[in-house]
Amino acid sequence: MKIALLGGSFDPVHEGHIQMAKEAVAQLDVEEVWFLPTWKTPLKERNLSSTNDRVQMLELALASYPKFKINLVEMERMGSSYTIDTLSILCQRYPENQFYWLMGNDQLEQFDRWKEPEKLVKLAQFVCFDRLGKLAKPSYPILCLHMPMMPVSSSEIRKGYKLNYLDPNVLNYIYQHRLYIENFVRERVNPHRFAHSLSVASLCEELAISHHLDSHKAYLIGLFHDIAKSMSKEKMEPWMDAICPENKIYPVPVWHGFVGSEIVKRVFGLWDETICAAIYHHVLGTSTDPYAMIVFCADKLDPLRGYPVQEQIEQTKKDLEKGFSLVKEENKKYLEGKE
Ligand SMILES: [Fe+2]
Ligand SMILES: [Fe+2]
Repeated sequence: MKIALLGGSFDPVHEGHIQMAKEAVAQLDVEEVWFLPTWKTPLKERNLSSTNDRVQMLELALASYPKFKINLVEMERMGSSYTIDTLSILCQRYPENQFYWLMGNDQLEQFDRWKEPEKLVKLAQFVCFDRLGKLAKPSYPILCLHMPMMPVSSSEIRKGYKLNYLDPNVLNYIYQHRLYIENFVRERVNPHRFAHSLSVASLCEELAISHHLDSHKAYLIGLFHDIAKSMSKEKMEPWMDAICPENKIYPVPVWHGFVGSEIVKRVFGLWDETICAAIYHHVLGTSTDPYAMIVFCADKLDPLRGYPVQEQIEQTKKDLEKGFSLVKEENKKYLEGKE
């Protein structure tokens, strides 16, 4: 069998990887593509997500492609995985197979630094997919093929950009297991706002547990509630025009709730009406949906604000409606005072 091998950390796997595997089938006529998640990439220092999470995301992303398989040879060894070791094992285990090792331009440029490159090119046909249109001339017998560019990387995804390049089931997994999602927020707000977002998220979670609600959903609402807070009026205006032009009569500091509720859907793929509505109403407390009441209270009772709030938090844990009306009353007084 002709088998293409695609190594990577897959943290997380995205459309760019799938595209490369599809090109291998189309251009090399391989029967299968094996995805080889690395235990740890020798040339990269960043800490990877757990093995289990990366493999589970691969399983979800490859589920609809019968020719794409996961091979855990690198995981089994649990050491720093060099391609030469991996390839030697695969050639021993499957002597009948002809292997193609797939890589991108960035890897071709570093090929001299790989362990035992002369030996590597004897064990498999190395194939470089040219994504940038400016291939370095390889000094080893490496096959160079052209592939349309897929402008996405796992590192962008870990910061919450280009999430539309993920399989929807992988994105769902990321939220369910809280991979990278704190980074999504950290990237877009200042450090003070980020600390507040984390603090509100954990208070939302606690309040949801007290009221037998979905604590993970509450956590997400808290985490993302101020996602639009750092946006300028100019940046928010087109969003306001598109979603609720009638709300432009409100002072600008109120807008981030409306805009944030749309951003969590369109940018972060959180298409959950309860989450969006809770964020939409969090500034003014204009909804009595339990999740909306929770985030409204948690936002105002965030211990990081520096007021003595513990008693009110305990009260809200016992009785959400009562806590909500008390917080709303106080907030009203505060705003009137400010006026
Ligand atoms: Fe807010
Ligand atoms: Fe807030």
